[in-house]
Amino acid sequence: MLPRLLCTSFLFGALALGGCAKSEPEKKDERAAPQAEAPKAGSDDKVAADKKDPQSGVDYHSFANTDDYRIEHLDLDLTVDFSRKVLEGEARLEIKRLSKKNPPLVLDTRDLTIESVEAGHGERLEPVKFSLGEKDDHLGTPLSIKLPKNATAVAIRYRTSPEASGVQWLEPQQTAGKKHPFLFTQAQAIHARSFVPLQDSPKVRMTYGATIRTPKELRAVMSADNDPETEKDGVYEFEMPQPIPSYLLALAVGDLEFKPMGERTGVYAEPALLDASAEEFEDTESMLEATERVYGAYRWDRYDLLILPPSFPFGGMENPRLSFITPTVIAGDKSLVALIAHELAHSWSGNLVTNASWRDLWLNEGFTTYLTNRIMQNIYGDQRYKMEMALGYDDLQADLADREDRDEIMAIDLRGRDPDEVFSNIPYEKGSLFLYELEQKIGREAFDQFLLEYFNHFAFQSIATEDFVDYLNQTLLKQYPEKLDAERIHQWIYEPGIPQGAPHPQSDAFSKIDPLRQQWLGGEISTKDIDTSGWTFHQWKYFLDGMPEKLSEAQLKELDSTFDLTESKNNEVAFSWLMIAVRNQYKPAYGRLENFLSTIGRNKFLRPLYRELEETGQGELARRIFENAKAGYHPLTVKVNSKVIYGDDGE
Ligand code: BES
Ligand code: ZN
Repeated sequence: MLPRLLCTSFLFGALALGGCAKSEPEKKDERAAPQAEAPKAGSDDKVAADKKDPQSGVDYHSFANTDDYRIEHLDLDLTVDFSRKVLEGEARLEIKRLSKKNPPLVLDTRDLTIESVEAGHGERLEPVKFSLGEKDDHLGTPLSIKLPKNATAVAIRYRTSPEASGVQWLEPQQTAGKKHPFLFTQAQAIHARSFVPLQDSPKVRMTYGATIRTPKELRAVMSADNDPETEKDGVYEFEMPQPIPSYLLALAVGDLEFKPMGERTGVYAEPALLDASAEEFEDTESMLEATERVYGAYRWDRYDLLILPPSFPFGGMENPRLSFITPTVIAGDKSLVALIAHELAHSWSGNLVTNASWRDLWLNEGFTTYLTNRIMQNIYGDQRYKMEMALGYDDLQADLADREDRDEIMAIDLRGRDPDEVFSNIPYEKGSLFLYELEQKIGREAFDQFLLEYFNHFAFQSIATEDFVDYLNQTLLKQYPEKLDAERIHQWIYEPGIPQGAPHPQSDAFSKIDPLRQQWLGGEISTKDIDTSGWTFHQWKYFLDGMPEKLSEAQLKELDSTFDLTESKNNEVAFSWLMIAVRNQYKPAYGRLENFLSTIGRNKFLRPLYRELEETGQGELARRIFENAKAGYHPLTVKVNSKVIYGDDGE
């Protein structure tokens, strides 16, 4: 059944007609149209659906009827209008028909204005009827298009809303150069639909081409074949020959320059950040080569980085060929470059072998976190590897202490929920720990061989958790029946918590910090007696995160005056310190706190800080800072932190 249609606009040729498209008869295969049937959150239907387990491979976060049609190629022609904060133009979709019937094509949209739709075959397209359905808070609005029989192409003229959830429009003062505006998109998980009408599901892969028209002084880059030599003339052409899911579609426009870092790697950034970025991330080429040696050829030609303004809501995003990176990891000492290893690793786990639905996110993030650690070990050695692993383990423990059981399950049931709201360390660190256990059990060499074959076996496919489990049953479980156990694997994937006897990564560099912290807390030694020379950010973080809930004003002052924590240039250290400061209402750090919350958009930092303010009776301050900073935040940052601060989504 199709979603209920609201029939807001109905166009046939140039004529505006009234009325609704007839919905097609119901499908027999339950898996065939669950998206279109997705009941409204909170409705009786929804409650009934919740009783059953989610179905493997079904995407509950898309309206698209992907069993009838598959988009195979997208051609975009968009004009970037900074004055109206609008992307405007045409999306042409090449579609493959999977069924003999001719039901309407249902696409995902969110806050798009659809001007016209044409459909047909080859170059011969004709205006067709279309209608927008009812808007769902999480999923947006289905766009239903009546297709002529045998139509294989659809061209949609449309424009985005200035509030598009997947686009941030920045004023010049929010950039490093302060002279030019900036725009970037963030499509994962379900925001591509806010800037392109398409089947916004990770199980659909498409190639794409694009023409992007910008003000002449700016450069456009995409998750495609960027060419640093291209003339800056305001018209940029892109091709993406490898098929990608929609959440990897990405565009940025700004005063961008390019600097090579290696043969296949380079960095795009605003001029003021270019040199520092290229230096900080100079090991990217070695990381790429190291990953290839173990997990097989890099399949995406080039690997470049794009350094965004600090309002970017994530640390990084693995857009193919061009990872988007927060500038807040440029610490000057490469201490935070695990982020680059992580986004690079997604070129195998995620971009090559992709989660089929957001329930399967752990296949992307857990595998990537595991690979990240391995890359870090390869490039920076054992000590760094152990520290990164141990910090990850502590993050996992913190989440396990904090979350409801249902959110500790790797194959998480997200029906009726907004993936942005459920973001946690579970898919990352529990997923990674699970793979680490497999490695420990069968040996590293065998496990690497398994991963190499896994990436090759499922290359350029989107798979569900159960596809992975089946593959594991066919391979490792057969090869190592005495070492692996299907029940335990089931427990890892489908049950909360972690199984008894799971590995517990630790680091010597940390264990010597525990007694020092203890002695200092007990008044046996002063801060000056703590030898912090040579401490890496990891050790600082471990030292600070292990502090008890409450510290005295005198203790806080002593820490701050000895180690200058309020002024720390390392944003991770600053964050750990600010959490302590907020918890203990240590006012000398509040200037930095306000500055931090107003200039950085990374939700990994913002959400815990705002939550801590709320939970310690400082909600008024949280609201004041939030209201002042809001205009500069990304829509996602506004949404998730409004929930924390006001208990709603800020609309
Ligand atoms: N793909 C994620 C970001 C993401 C996940 C966006 C889910 C939307 C929905 C990216 O690769 C990521 O994991 N970023 C982390 C990196 C960190 C774990 C090293 C981040 O931004 O903090
Ligand atoms: Zn990731």
